[in-house]
Amino acid sequence: MLPFRTTGFLFLIVILIGLSACGNKSGEDPLLAEGERLFNTHCLSCHPTAPAAPHVGPHLVGLGENLNASGQDAAALLEESIRQPDKVITTGYQNLMPAPELLSLSDDDVNALVAYLVTLE
Ligand code: HEC
Repeated sequence: MLPFRTTGFLFLIVILIGLSACGNKSGEDPLLAEGERLFNTHCLSCHPTAPAAPHVGPHLVGLGENLNASGQDAAALLEESIRQPDKVITTGYQNLMPAPELLSLSDDDVNALVAYLVTLE
């Protein structure tokens, strides 16, 4: 048997490890984290998140919020813009955006990107 003090100490360590693991889980939504990773890999080069940066595609920060605020379905519109980039061309821009197949993005990837973009503020 370990002396009481050592057992108590080990018990405390186990509780602390457990608590920190819980904190990580609730603090980070895996879908958003995956969306951000995909965005940084495939989209950021044309859609920088810093407003003044030189860009090929329109600024997407706040787009989801603006669409929702104007009564539109942001998730549906963003998904359409990603899946069929040449269906509607944003005024002032050229038809340069690659379709998801060209970037080897799966349906799950597109869903994660939409989830991330809706929250991009
Ligand atoms: C080669 C550059 C390029 C890449 C890479 C690119 N885009 Fe685009 N994107 C554009 C351009 C140019 C437009 C504006 C023309 C249009 O509507 O197709 C655009 C438009 C959009 C729009 C519509 C914006 C609006 O104001 O309605 C969304 C949403 C979007 N892109 C998301 C993405 C996502 C997500 C990715 C990564 C999977 C991506 N783009 C990758 C160039 C790019």
